[in-house]
Amino acid sequence: MNLQIQHLLGLEGVSREDITLILDTADEFYGVLQRDIKVVPTLRGKTVVNLFYENSTRTKISFELAEKRLSASPLNFSVSTSSVNKGESLRDTIQNIEAMKIDMVVVRHPCAGAPYFLTQCTGAVIVNAGDGLHEHPTQALLDMMTIRQKLGRLDGLKVAIIGDIFHSRVARSNAWGMKAMGMNVTLCGPPTLLPQHTDSLGVPVTDNIDEALDGADVVMLLRVQLERQSSAVFPSEHEYRERYGFDLERLSRMKKEVVIMHPGPINRGVELASNVADSENSVILDQVTNGVAVRMAALYLLGGGGSEAVR
Ligand code: CP
Repeated sequence: MNLQIQHLLGLEGVSREDITLILDTADEFYGVLQRDIKVVPTLRGKTVVNLFYENSTRTKISFELAEKRLSASPLNFSVSTSSVNKGESLRDTIQNIEAMKIDMVVVRHPCAGAPYFLTQCTGAVIVNAGDGLHEHPTQALLDMMTIRQKLGRLDGLKVAIIGDIFHSRVARSNAWGMKAMGMNVTLCGPPTLLPQHTDSLGVPVTDNIDEALDGADVVMLLRVQLERQSSAVFPSEHEYRERYGFDLERLSRMKKEVVIMHPGPINRGVELASNVADSENSVILDQVTNGVAVRMAALYLLGGGGSEAVR
């Protein structure tokens, strides 16, 4: 089986079949990553450029690891030491890189739509590693892989995503992806951190945390993204923690096997208490582990591989 999509720009409009194929392939690569030798030859000879215009720890390292474990040649583009600092445009940057014969581009950019723009000016396969407030599809895929690993299914599960929804590309990708997989997602945050137009997300949005948490199988906390805000959107950290922070008291009211997630980086003691982040219910480091397998699966399938991923 092959993917219907040619690029991974987001999960809006991506079919349940494509998401399932990526998750099933990621499970196979997860098996590879448990071996002593964690490398397969499937993308030997392909060159993948990692074009990060924004900071990243997890996404950047896991894409590079995924490329190395697929035997591709990763090329890391550092904006701070590049000619972007001399004013070179995104179009000229990518066309000059493409002239050196590359195959795939992983891009993180502060502007929503930058990955789509790249599909219009290059012939390379484009993978979105986070574009502005728009989408972060591989994060949502690794989140779904982790939930399926822990709870054995996705269909019918209730997920509460709590925090700074307005600035969260993770929330958007999860809303679209999880809905396609038959999950029931509720987005929740302070009224000032909720998007105004939520119809296109197709999931309920509320500022009432008790309503969002009621009966949830999965609780995903999101960081308040202070770096994307120009004015204060809640009175104090203390007030945010009191009203929307997830602590042991809130955990005690959930199902015993509830899964606690966070895409990272965590503001410990603000949206998530440290002792909950490190509790048995937390799968935060499993999410990071699974990020490598999911990114291997996406690169492998977009690079032309079928469902026989592991050799
Ligand atoms: N989850 C995530 O995107 O983390 P980074 O910003 O560190 O890549």
